[in-house]
Amino acid sequence: MSHIIILDSYVANLIAAGEVVDRPASAIKEMLENSIDAGATSITAEIKNGGTTFMRITDNGSGIESADLPLAIKRHATSKIRTEADLNSIATLGFRGEALAAIASVSKLRIMSKVRENKFGAQLTVDNGDIISVDTIGCPDGTTIICEELFAAVPARRKFLKSDRAETAAAAAVVEKIALSHPEVSIKFITDGTLRFQTAGDGRLYDAIYAVLGRDFAKKLIPVDYTTAGITVSGFVGDPSTSRGNRNLQNFFINGRYVKCRTAAAALENAFDSYIPHERFPSCVLMIKMMPAFVDVNVHPAKLEVKFSDDRAIFDAVFCAVKNALIRDIDRPELKFAATAKTADDVRARNAFVPVYDRLNDTDGDPKPTEKISLEELEGVFSGKAAGTADAPSPAALKSEIKTDEYKTVTISSLDSERLAAPPAGQPLDFLSGGENIVTSASIPHIDYKASEKVSSEPVPQPAAPSEPIKAEESPLATPPFYRILGTAFNCYIFVELSDRVLVVDQHAAHERIIFETMKENMRSSDPPSQIMLLPIPVPLTTEEAAALEANKAEIMSIGFSWKIDTAARCADMLSYPAQLESEAAAAQIVK
Ligand SMILES: Nc1ncnc2c1ncn2[C@@H]1O[C@H](COP(=O)(O)OP(=O)(O)O)[C@@H](O)[C@H]1O
Ligand SMILES: [Mg+2]
Repeated sequence: MSHIIILDSYVANLIAAGEVVDRPASAIKEMLENSIDAGATSITAEIKNGGTTFMRITDNGSGIESADLPLAIKRHATSKIRTEADLNSIATLGFRGEALAAIASVSKLRIMSKVRENKFGAQLTVDNGDIISVDTIGCPDGTTIICEELFAAVPARRKFLKSDRAETAAAAAVVEKIALSHPEVSIKFITDGTLRFQTAGDGRLYDAIYAVLGRDFAKKLIPVDYTTAGITVSGFVGDPSTSRGNRNLQNFFINGRYVKCRTAAAALENAFDSYIPHERFPSCVLMIKMMPAFVDVNVHPAKLEVKFSDDRAIFDAVFCAVKNALIRDIDRPELKFAATAKTADDVRARNAFVPVYDRLNDTDGDPKPTEKISLEELEGVFSGKAAGTADAPSPAALKSEIKTDEYKTVTISSLDSERLAAPPAGQPLDFLSGGENIVTSASIPHIDYKASEKVSSEPVPQPAAPSEPIKAEESPLATPPFYRILGTAFNCYIFVELSDRVLVVDQHAAHERIIFETMKENMRSSDPPSQIMLLPIPVPLTTEEAAALEANKAEIMSIGFSWKIDTAARCADMLSYPAQLESEAAAAQIVK
């Protein structure tokens, strides 16, 4: 007896539907894309209960002929492509002919549509894949689709849905992306009777960003416009102050389609290197346009991923576009040096404060090797004597005139005598106890000018270095080793002399680690120390971040945070934060 059967179309549709429509947000995405493909200039999307009970998308697009309505909900039924060749030049957002079939098979669906030239429209009613009726009706030009009771008849799928709030947030994130990708279409989004946003549809990306991502973000944008090798990259990047601890504010659109694009993200992040700290991610709304033949969107049913015929070309285009915009728009520290022969101090200051990128592109004609600090120069720096200079320079001589940008104030006056106090040599470095020696950005000691004079002349005494090796069962941190801080570089790295080694500590990473340990400790305590705010601090959040914050409320509150989400202002009002943190660090952590 044969065991193999061909599944009936209902079951086959159910299986396929799961790939295209797994939650209300993906159904909304597909329906909005259909409206845009139909040439709509105005679309209203309305949902209730996160879209699980009700979704309505109304557009003023081309409409569907009444005879086509039953076909529209069949699998592989599309008006957008005809032949295999068309797959190489897809100019529409949809082309697979699967979405309406998927939505219709797992919900109660009504499609009302009228083509401009026709006097009447038609309404198709479908119940979980079964066509109930097709009626002639009077309705405006365009299409309205109402989708109710999504997954009501498919409990297995329904149980994977999250809370209404989380589904609303996911749907909002999708509508936001579509509104950003098509500023020429006015998009209105209503959730549970409340208008969340409406774009003007005037074709200006800036206006769409303002409407969707809010005024505060829009104020911090740097325009990008660049074309190379048939690829155009335009739009905006957020200035460095808009960087965040995740990639939620990175929006890439390829030929008008929102995609998750690792190549473009890597190029963006590379271009921002040296403008923002490590472990922070830049924000952007970038439109990448290229010949459709060079990008394959037929990689996944959800069409969220694409493949390029030439990844490198995309990387280069995005990198150059962003880098040019940053160089043009952001003032960097500018050092003025006397034209006389370089001293070790000049070299040291130069290496310390000129951004790496600028150093590589330095056009002063000097051979590059002399720009590097030699070992003697380095010694001179720490011993207080410039290499080849007889006298140690006075601290005042180390001051240099520097123009600063708005992001960081750079002065080479950190060797001022009153700031020379470094922790006594040999004092243990306590990373964990929260004691005075915790290395934070505020407490990085400066070069121990006097103490380090000994460095060049005599060997450093090894104060009470443990003569016996540390026993395996002993935590190395229980008896911290002796150390001496030599100094800092690039305002980022701390050089620590530790017995016979020199450790280079990434100051930001160390700071992050301290915060992490503090938070972990707080989670274990039943009553974490919390700083209550007199006035709440507004922390800007993306829709996804607000949803994540709510979803993980219990854990985050156990660390010592409390907040109130302000949906209209797109922020969380931070009411309290762990007492060990400073307010700015706390705001950054709550986003993370
Ligand atoms: N809002 C709409 N306006 C006009 N036509 C629509 C609309 N939504 C769907 N259609 C028609 O229904 C067809 C099937 O839609 P869909 O299942 O999403 O497949 P695809 O978009 O991949 O073609 C489309 O090709 C289009 O002709
Ligand atoms: Mg479609």
